[in-house]
Amino acid sequence: MSPASTILDLIGNTPMVELTKFDTGPCRLFMKLEGWNPSGSIKDRTAKSMIDAAERDGRLKPGGTIIEATAGNTGLGLSLIAAIKGYKVILVVPDKFSEMKITHCEGLGAHVIRTRADVSAGHPEYYVDMAKRIAAETGAFHTNQFDNPANVHVHETTTGPEIWEQMDKKIDAVVCGVGSGGTLSGLGKFFAKVSPETELILSDPKGALLAAKVNGEKATPHAFRVEGIGQECAPGNLDLDIVDKGYVIDDEESFSTVRELLKREGILAGTPTGTVLAGALRYCREQTKPKRVVTFMSDRGDKYLPKIYGDQK
Ligand SMILES: Cc1ncc(COP(=O)(O)O)c(C=O)c1O
Repeated sequence: MSPASTILDLIGNTPMVELTKFDTGPCRLFMKLEGWNPSGSIKDRTAKSMIDAAERDGRLKPGGTIIEATAGNTGLGLSLIAAIKGYKVILVVPDKFSEMKITHCEGLGAHVIRTRADVSAGHPEYYVDMAKRIAAETGAFHTNQFDNPANVHVHETTTGPEIWEQMDKKIDAVVCGVGSGGTLSGLGKFFAKVSPETELILSDPKGALLAAKVNGEKATPHAFRVEGIGQECAPGNLDLDIVDKGYVIDDEESFSTVRELLKREGILAGTPTGTVLAGALRYCREQTKPKRVVTFMSDRGDKYLPKIYGDQK
């Protein structure tokens, strides 16, 4: 392998591994290791795609300022790219998120504004509304991953095709979480073209509402400890009609599943991977025919160690 010209050229092309130590019923379950991206998560793809698009159409000028509302991983991706390309970054982060992610962003040079995690859309301290307001006041470029088509496009044109090749073009289902909706929507567009019978399965933290909506069930929103996924309303990027089935996973099951992933398979992942893996395992065990199923390690677990293993609430 020849040397990359910068670390940004190492975004994407992540490995895939079969999980062989869990009970997967009649199915084979594979995990795409997005934690292998340079800043540690699938969001490096999103960050790079949104910045590339904004540079191309002039929304982002040399030396400009980027602002984003983020659970941390998009912020890390943006901070990484900004550090290398000379942009300034402001991140608005809800206060339930892992301090280590924030330290990592600050280490890359980002200015982090902490806001409340316990308020919803419409409240002035809701992280997305706050980022919008600061962008309007300062003229900073708001990447807005929730509504930015470049976020969907990168998964349609990179994540989807990579999975397709790695799985020898045989995939019965993909199990995924929804943060901004970019991954699920982009994969939906890709699989609609190459393999429309591939099912799209959503795994949601209990307390979020999207999986319940997909299944036509009633649910009450409440706070949860899993980071990065779980919304009350579908983001602008996502049409929920593309989703075939939803699973609702409580914090306890998400955390115990991510601990089992490390213990059984040696994969140190973050809390949202526990949620999607738990949903993927339920899907696999419910099947009556053998299926090939793909799920995601969406980020590395290093920054969550105190949260996953310690007393940190
Ligand atoms: C497990 C998992 N799947 C998928 C995603 C995709 O997020 P998005 O909807 O923002 O593309 C995430 C984000 O953290 C995740 O943790």
